[in-house]
Amino acid sequence: MMTQALVKTEINLESKNETIHGKVWGQKTEEIKFRHSRFNGLVLLPYMTEERMNLLAEFPTRDGDVYVVTYMKSATTWLAQIIREIAKPTMPEGLTEEDVLGGTVPCLEAANFQHLAAYPSPRHMVTHLPYSLTPKNSQQNLKYIYNARNPRDVAVSMFHYMRVLEKLDWDGTWDEFLGYFMKGDVPYGSYFDHVLEWWAHRNDENVLFLKYEDLKKAPVEYITKIAEFLGYSLSRQEAERVSEECSFSAMKANKNTNYDRYRHQIYKKESDFNFMRKGIVGDWQNHFSHEQLAEFNQLYASRMNGTGLDFEFTIQ
Ligand code: A3P
Repeated sequence: MMTQALVKTEINLESKNETIHGKVWGQKTEEIKFRHSRFNGLVLLPYMTEERMNLLAEFPTRDGDVYVVTYMKSATTWLAQIIREIAKPTMPEGLTEEDVLGGTVPCLEAANFQHLAAYPSPRHMVTHLPYSLTPKNSQQNLKYIYNARNPRDVAVSMFHYMRVLEKLDWDGTWDEFLGYFMKGDVPYGSYFDHVLEWWAHRNDENVLFLKYEDLKKAPVEYITKIAEFLGYSLSRQEAERVSEECSFSAMKANKNTNYDRYRHQIYKKESDFNFMRKGIVGDWQNHFSHEQLAEFNQLYASRMNGTGLDFEFTIQ
């Protein structure tokens, strides 16, 4: 068994960041002008090399693990914070959550597996991996919470985010980005493939499929649903407390959720990007031209019609 001192050394966050942030990963190509990696044809973030993907395929799952799964920019951080507030993990004596996780809910793709091994059960992790690559183990009780967001707002949120990520080294236009997005030439591939693969599993006993727009409209109701799914029973008052602590403004001010402490490792030096950017439904209206919307709607219809999955694009 590891001593506490050893655990502390091994879970030094700086070493984790060096592995991902201290190096130039991936490449640009004629077709895709931001740095990226590829695995089995899927476009990925630059640091997600074949070696890392093979490691992920071997990820040692643990009974009770909870995976928050999203396509990028679908409010992963919001879901993760809600879950953390519902089920605060009890840390081993002498260790704080910050020691183990660096204050954030770990992202499976980026995390150091030793950190995750030190994380007491139930572990909560976030991932953007498609269904086929997400860790599974039929012998264990693993739970998945999928949060989907309407693709117009996802595209807008992703555009702003990708422009400021230092490792992507890209500052293209909205028009250029929308072209990538519609082709599925963005990190984690096609939005539609991702969402629909998980939608097909929405009725699995260990999957809870949610939508950002519903959560925006009725946070307390959905927080109660999430708690029930995880095996907690929250009073109305507790659910309201979680809702307030996880509101957009609270998370914008919270150093564990606004990622500001990592900004020098994540964003371009000159960027004043705020991870908690707008947090609304409908920002797409400030970005899509009429022609772009018509083309996008055609793609949307060709992928979504008949699936039973649909979204609200504005909230009154
Ligand atoms: P915007 O860029 O549209 O503002 P992710 O965590 O998957 O990277 O998603 C980030 C998006 O979720 C950002 O969208 C962010 O503002 C939004 N978000 C994060 N926390 C939120 C909250 N508590 N309420 C509403 N939106 C939130």
